[in-house]
Amino acid sequence: MTTRMAKYLGFAIFSGLLVLGVLPERTTVKAREPSSPESAFGTYVDAKGNITLPPNFLIDWPSMGSWSVLENGTIADIHNVYAPRSVIEYYRKNHEFPDGAIIVKEVRHARGAPHTTGEAFWVDDVKVWFVMVRDRQGRFPENPLWGEGWGWALFKGGDPTKQVATNYKDDCLQCHVPAKDNEWIYVYAYPVLGDDVVKHAPPR
Ligand code: HEC
Repeated sequence: MTTRMAKYLGFAIFSGLLVLGVLPERTTVKAREPSSPESAFGTYVDAKGNITLPPNFLIDWPSMGSWSVLENGTIADIHNVYAPRSVIEYYRKNHEFPDGAIIVKEVRHARGAPHTTGEAFWVDDVKVWFVMVRDRQGRFPENPLWGEGWGWALFKGGDPTKQVATNYKDDCLQCHVPAKDNEWIYVYAYPVLGDDVVKHAPPR
């Protein structure tokens, strides 16, 4: 086959693929707009304030950071925290969470084994998911899962469709008091929120 023929053949095959719509990624380039932050209201929060666990956060949202929790001298749990990219970008600019911001903390059992790096731990099955939704308007004054500028929710590993917290004051708030000055969020563990969050960390 001559070079010319080969080129022609290549072009013919490429056009054929285009006609068949086989190359969608190449032909439709979607620009990411500097949009306003993704709001959970209407998407993950219904008109009564019921919060649902976003089904695809694990693949769609960046990780903000993680925590390892010791128990009896070993790492028992690993917590990974996620939020939509637009929420993170807003925080980086404004140093606060926008109305409608949603944050998910996934708590998993940890597994450990000797690796070439040493005794290394990774995530096993899900224990629970915690979800918080920023509400700067006090939308649900009657709902016991909303208050202090947030909606608070809890889902158990076995059933991600069932919200099980009953009252944020009993189920959540006390434990978040140390982070009160940072909108109740332990921001210093999330460097993606900006260089200055570390200043809120407890002393070494
Ligand atoms: C036993 C104490 C405790 C309770 C109860 C608790 N939290 Fe937390 N939560 C923490 C701590 C401490 C962190 C950060 C460190 C960690 O994960 O170990 C955290 C982190 C989070 C995060 C990630 C964002 C952040 O603040 O760093 C979310 C979301 C969250 N909690 C939601 C909830 C919700 C919703 C409830 C109630 C249903 C709840 N938490 C109950 C202690 C608690």
